[in-house]
Amino acid sequence: MDEPRHDLFRITVETEAGTGRVASALGECLRLGDCVLLQGDLGAGKTAFARALIRSLAGDAQLIVPSPTFTLSQIYDLPDFALTHFDLYRLGEAEDVFDLGWDDARADGVTLVEWPERLGSLAPPTALLVRLDAIGGRDNEINEAEGRQICLCGNAGWKPRLELNFS
Ligand SMILES: Nc1ncnc2c1ncn2[C@@H]1O[C@H](COP(=O)(O)OP(=O)(O)OP(=O)(O)O)[C@@H](O)[C@H]1O
Ligand SMILES: [Mg+2]
Repeated sequence: MDEPRHDLFRITVETEAGTGRVASALGECLRLGDCVLLQGDLGAGKTAFARALIRSLAGDAQLIVPSPTFTLSQIYDLPDFALTHFDLYRLGEAEDVFDLGWDDARADGVTLVEWPERLGSLAPPTALLVRLDAIGGRDNEINEAEGRQICLCGNAGWKPRLELNFS
């Protein structure tokens, strides 16, 4: 049986830079084989989070990290591991992810997944789920609010790994 996921850490940020700091702190905790699911509405900041995390691991604040909206996946050769950034919004069937090199990406490195809902039951149960929600602004309207609540949600194995950076 896979262990259930729980909300482990909830962080409130006021700006996109704050989101970037959380992303880079998470990056320090990652190791080969990890999968991070980025969940949130359109414009919640999933790509912004992924971009900051990748730039920080690359040690290059200017690295071009496009949204893989149309390519659906983008591979980065980082110093410690390869990282594949998926955006599955336009995925047809969940199984189509295998055509994007899903198995190799999982086996050979770290995977970051926007729109993980598209994976259905293929979503790795041990993956860390990062939920991004807009806060503040009028009616928490995402385009007006810069605040976000970021929730790191994972099984018990993630807790000690994240504690150093998030307690
Ligand atoms: N605190 C914040 N964190 C992240 N992004 C923010 C924040 N405040 C404002 N933004 C803005 O919100 C937008 C987030 O866009 P982004 O492309 O990252 O969203 P997304 O969740 O990837 O959307 P999509 O579902 O279309 O892929 C950007 O324009 C960014 O500048
Ligand atoms: Mg995106």
